[in-house]
Amino acid sequence: MTITENYSLKKLNTFGIEASARYYSDFSNVEEVCQILSEAKFANTNKLILGGGSNLLFTKDFDGIVLKNNLKGVELVKEDAEHYFVKSAGGEVWHELVMFCIANNYSGLENLSLIPGNVGASPMQNIGAYGAEIKDNFYELEALHINDKAIHTFNNAECKFGYRESVFKGELKHQYIITSVTFKLHKKPVFNTSYGAIEKELEAMGAKELSIKAISEAVCNIRRSKLPNPAEIGNAGSFFKNPEVSRFKFEELKKEFPTIVGYDLENGNVKLAAGWLIEQCGWKGKTVGDAGVHKLQALVLVNYGNAKGSEIFELSQKIIDSIKDRFGVELVREVNII
Ligand code: FAD
Ligand code: EPU
Repeated sequence: MTITENYSLKKLNTFGIEASARYYSDFSNVEEVCQILSEAKFANTNKLILGGGSNLLFTKDFDGIVLKNNLKGVELVKEDAEHYFVKSAGGEVWHELVMFCIANNYSGLENLSLIPGNVGASPMQNIGAYGAEIKDNFYELEALHINDKAIHTFNNAECKFGYRESVFKGELKHQYIITSVTFKLHKKPVFNTSYGAIEKELEAMGAKELSIKAISEAVCNIRRSKLPNPAEIGNAGSFFKNPEVSRFKFEELKKEFPTIVGYDLENGNVKLAAGWLIEQCGWKGKTVGDAGVHKLQALVLVNYGNAKGSEIFELSQKIIDSIKDRFGVELVREVNII
């Protein structure tokens, strides 16, 4: 564990934004991070916990200490008649955990294949894709309180998971470091192919037998065909959340925009496809300097080279304003703005 001053974060965020941290250190065990947190020098310093850097946008240098989570280890901690309970340290790579579960025939995370980032960040916004969210298979997590340095355990209800939300993004923001997450996985596979594109892709793959491995491969294929690879084009996935509107508002919009895309929610509201709204306003494929809107997925903002975080942020504001003007709908950023 070494604390470095004025550390470049360019390689540590998938947008590839040049920004520097006043102080930087990684940590491989809880004692190390507690030691840093106890240093008087850092008592009143801003702290940023970093995983894979795939859901944040640096709009300026970080005047504080960046702590990169390098906690490792995955273990089967218990089982009952129907479930395996798998505990993963927060610094493990998410997709590698998914692959580990598939290799062992533990079912539940396969629809979440290929989401970038680390396990420790996965509860932050209750990652979701292709008809699943981690809350569906989440058992509990352990988190270190930054001030009292005690480990607290949170069960599913205590995390207050919602669509791209949790208590750690809300009322407990900046208070905890998530050190491990335990998932409750099925012994007898539960296949979830309800998301239309999966069935189609399984067919195209010629998959003879349904399996969690086949579902994972189908999800990976769909993702690779739609989303830019951050190793090639800087991005942080969907920049905005899909907005929720009342059914009344949806019906009003539908009169004016008959092709508008929306999905019914259990609470009676409708979730709009933000990608559709953004595309309709003419943003898809647009660039402003090196900042841009991806040409295949309008919900993804990209850095084509040397865009500044502030330029991407300004572009996102213009998009928000134009959607508000045209549809009267407020887009909310999904990406964490630093
Ligand atoms: P980071 O970006 O490092 O951090 C994100 C936030 O969590 C920051 O506020 C950080 O301070 C905080 N944080 C990180 N680790 C911890 C910790 N251990 N304790 C406390 N706070 C912490 N997301 C989806 O939900 N679904 C998708 O389908 C999806 N697709 C994506 C596709 C692409 C190409 C990309 C680039 C991103 C995508 N994302 C998606 C977003 C991203 O992968 C997830 O949000 C992921 O969980 C972020 O993990 P990370 O380790 O990179 O977090
Ligand atoms: N659409 C357009 N134009 C576009 C993009 C999308 O019209 O440029 C419309 C299409 O009608 C399309 C619909 O929007 O059918 C939905 O698009 P897509 O299936 O690509 O999904 P999304 O709603 O854009 C969400 C998540 C993704 C997740 C996928 C798959 C959010 C904010 N995004 O995207 O998550 O992978 O569904 O489940 O909920 C992320 O969070 O970073 C992320 C990539």
